[in-house]
Parts: sequence; structure tokens; C-alpha cells
Amino acid sequence: MPAIRSVPPRAAIPLRRRGTPAEVAPACLSRSKRTTLIMRPMEVALNQRGIPARAVVSVRGLRKSFGGNHVLQGVDLDVDEGSVTVVIGPSGCGKSVLIKHIIGLLRPDEGTILVDGEDITQLSERAMTGVRRKFGMLFQHSALFDSMTVLDNVMFPLREHARMPRREMRDLAVQRLNQLGLVGVEEVYPAELSGGMRKRVGLARATILNPKIVIYDEPMTGLDPIMCENVEDMILTARRELGVTSILISHDMASTFRMADKVAMLHEGRIVIQGPPDAVKSSRNEVVRRFIYLSGTGPLTLPEAGA
Ligand SMILES: Nc1ncnc2c1ncn2[C@@H]1O[C@H](COP(=O)(O)OP(=O)(O)OP(=O)(O)O)[C@@H](O)[C@H]1O
Ligand SMILES: [Mg+2]
Repeated sequence: MPAIRSVPPRAAIPLRRRGTPAEVAPACLSRSKRTTLIMRPMEVALNQRGIPARAVVSVRGLRKSFGGNHVLQGVDLDVDEGSVTVVIGPSGCGKSVLIKHIIGLLRPDEGTILVDGEDITQLSERAMTGVRRKFGMLFQHSALFDSMTVLDNVMFPLREHARMPRREMRDLAVQRLNQLGLVGVEEVYPAELSGGMRKRVGLARATILNPKIVIYDEPMTGLDPIMCENVEDMILTARRELGVTSILISHDMASTFRMADKVAMLHEGRIVIQGPPDAVKSSRNEVVRRFIYLSGTGPLTLPEAGA
């Protein structure tokens, strides 16, 4: 179970359940932790797994245009700590643009983005470097360094941010590669790998520092079904055992509805729905229904409206 921190009152907005202090403190916690919670009843929310939850990323009124292309037109999105949030939406609707804002690679025209309660839109580039360390990022096309071997790619974040002997870095990198089914490719260059293998090297690099938030831009695309299952397992294990928050972009509806704590759909510049998978599945919004049932990427059949 992840460490339980006190939560600033502002971040306590997404409370799923309010109650008396005794109701709020989960029985599974040690006595000292329960006492801490009981002393701060309004600061604590519980997620579905009985762990205090809060919005670790909170996007409000985000707008971004490229010339006359008004991509984001007022996006609001909350990502709970320790949850898996999947962003879906048609190709070209701005999903990748949205997550590039969350890690500060793009600056918005308008709006706020709180990460751990801090508005990153106001930060200098130097301060942003510190915020980025909280994130691991798998880019849509893996974005590996072509001139580096697989091992050097995966070790790169360790060399930048961790202080440890090279041998330990190497061991960690090899172990992570092996977990993702990549054995004996350490000295190979990315160009020599298949697309799916490159994706897995990208995954190894994105998670090697055990960041508290990992963003995956289409992690399943190009992977075979067994490897998709491995990646799903990895994401769910990180959530369960380390309390990692995952934000995914996915076109794979079956996998989305298997894994997500929250599904958010971006359409025409706005989040048109966000909520638990069951609520999204049973939405009566025609745009949502058509997208999730007719996108052809999963064994979901279109039920009667309102069924
Ligand atoms: N740096 C940029 N400069 C100009 N236009 C951009 C830039 N980045 C993205 N766009 C435009 O923003 C729009 C949204 O692009 P984005 O890559 O976010 O789509 P997406 O939802 O991720 O699509 P896909 O599902 O195909 O990956 C597109 O029209 C794209 O051309
Ligand atoms: Mg994209």
C-alpha cells in the first residue's frame, strides 16, 4: 500500500464518500495512520480500493490552438492519485496534445493544470524540469534515441536522475527489459527492432525510475494480444503494489474497459464524458456510444440506447 500523505483541503474536492472521521479511516490501516486520518477527516477521500484518493492532476479550462486549428477548447479533467485513467477519442482530436500539456512539453493558451496542487502553467522552464521528474512518459511512437543502444536508452533516465553505480543501473535496466519479454537485446540499436519491441523498450524507459505518474500514449498499438496483456498486467501491478497513477491514451476499447478506473472521452476540443467505465459504457450520449461501440477495436457490441 502506498504511503498515505495529508491532502490539502483544495484537493479533497473529488471525495467519493464523506462521513464521520471514524467512517473515513479504513480499518486496514495501522493504528497510528488511522489516528492521523481521524485527526484530519475533511482532508481524506477514499478510492475504490480503500486508499485515500485525491486529484493528482487537475486540468481546468485548457485551450490550445495551432494557428486556426483550435485543438483544445476548454478541457476539464481530473486524475485521481493511484488510479488508471484512460483518455479516448477520435484520431486527431488532441489526445497527444493534451498529455503533452500535462507534462509541460506544450504551454496552453488558457487554463490551469495542477500537478500535486501546483499550477504548472505558471512555472519557469527550470522549475518544470523538477515537475517532469514525477512523470514517466511513453510517447506515441516510442521516441527512442536511435544513436543509443537499447540498454543506454533504458538507462538514460537513471543516468540523468539517479545516483548509483553503473552496474546497478545496468542490472535494473536488464531486469525491466526482461519483465517486458525483451531478452538479449541490450546491445542492439532501436532501428534493428520491430515496432512492438521498440514500444516495449519505450515502456521500460518510461517506468525505470518508478515515477509516481506514468503517461502512456497508445501503449498497446502494435503489440500482439499476449504482449498487450503483459502491458496491462504491468500497469495494474504498478497501481496495486506501488500506488502508481497511470494516464493512458488508447484506441483499444476492450483493454480500456478492462483496466480503467476512469474513462474520459475527448471530442471536438472538450471532454464530453468522464467517469467510471460502467457509467461511460451506459452513456446515452450518441457521440460516446458510437465511438466506443463502433470503433472496431474490441468485442463490445452496441446495446439498445439506455439499456
Ligand atoms: N506541434 C504542433 N504544431 C501544430 N499542430 C499540431 C502540433 N501538435 C499537434 N498538432 C495538431 O493538433 C491536432 C491534434 O493532434 P494530436 O496528435 O493531439 O491528435 P490525437 O488525438 O493524439 O490523434 P491520434 O489518435 O491520431 O494520435 C492535429 O490536428 C495536429 O495536426
Ligand atoms: Mg496521438
